Amino acid sequence: MKQIILPVLSAKSRKPMSENILIELKGLTKRYGYGDTETFALKDFDLEIRRGEFIMIMGPSGCGKTTLLDIIGLLDRATRGEYILNGEDVAGISARRQAKLRAKKIGFVFQNFNLIEDLPIIENVALPLVYTGYTKTSRLKQASRALARFHLQEREYYYPYQLSGGQQQRVAIARAIVGSPEIILADEPTGNLDSHSSHIVMEELKNIHEEGNTIIMVTHNPALTVYATRVINMLDGQIDTDVKTVADANLPQPISVKIKRKKKKAAEKAALEAAIELPEPSTKNPTKSKKAESRRKK
Ligand SMILES: Nc1ncnc2c1ncn2[C@@H]1O[C@H](COP(=O)(O)OP(=O)(O)OP(=O)(O)O)[C@@H](O)[C@H]1O
Ligand SMILES: [Mg+2]
Repeated sequence: MKQIILPVLSAKSRKPMSENILIELKGLTKRYGYGDTETFALKDFDLEIRRGEFIMIMGPSGCGKTTLLDIIGLLDRATRGEYILNGEDVAGISARRQAKLRAKKIGFVFQNFNLIEDLPIIENVALPLVYTGYTKTSRLKQASRALARFHLQEREYYYPYQLSGGQQQRVAIARAIVGSPEIILADEPTGNLDSHSSHIVMEELKNIHEEGNTIIMVTHNPALTVYATRVINMLDGQIDTDVKTVADANLPQPISVKIKRKKKKAAEKAALEAAIELPEPSTKNPTKSKKAESRRKK
């Protein structure tokens, strides 16, 4: 009898929305100073960030944008509150573990590029890979590939001062993405650039976002919000407005997840084929069926 067993699709194959939450901030507060000098850079700040969001953070000077990015980037700690990254509470983990997580998961782009002046740009780009265990040759190869992506391959051995501001920022973006982090944090990355260079830098960030990465960027320029999937306006350490321009379901997926899904589909197809029992070859005339078998093989 022909038996068909359909593989049971596990509940996991339908990814619950909560699995797409990358960052959760709950009651995050950052206080500086005491008594008369006490200031709150962040006040009971709550935020949920999904994978694939391109968030732009805006707001007046001093409202806490950089403080927020520094805490998300594990460069600074909140005075109190929870920070959950990929389901793990990272607010209280050791500085060593924070540094490891930072190296693996987060790439930074700053307004003033933050390149090391006495290193050629290829070595600047290779810097985040120092903690990864790759050999120096491998690190430089990866840096070279990252620079090529930003059309800077011919300038690998230039020093930062030999490049324009726009080129330096592209080097900084190459450095931010060289370790394939999941999160890119950019604090006014176009703040020191002319409009032409700003446009090039934003197009690069857009491409990185379309590959499924999550970007959180601070800007003072409302014109750049066209690139965002969500715009958050801050005021006095809190969220003033929060507007999503792209539905959660339509956010770009990380490429690795897409590949995993393809593999999963192929595995499911194979399982389905294996589950369909082929009809037994006829045993009436074994010689005939052997001949048929050898014809099939040909
Ligand atoms: N190290 C510090 N010591 C004391 N106060 C600080 C410190 N760092 C930040 N602050 C205060 O925290 C508040 C938020 O600062 P933050 O740098 O996050 O603002 P911002 O929104 O990034 O401003 P800008 O747009 O000017 O960059 C400000 O009032 C600032 O003075
Ligand atoms: Mg700032």
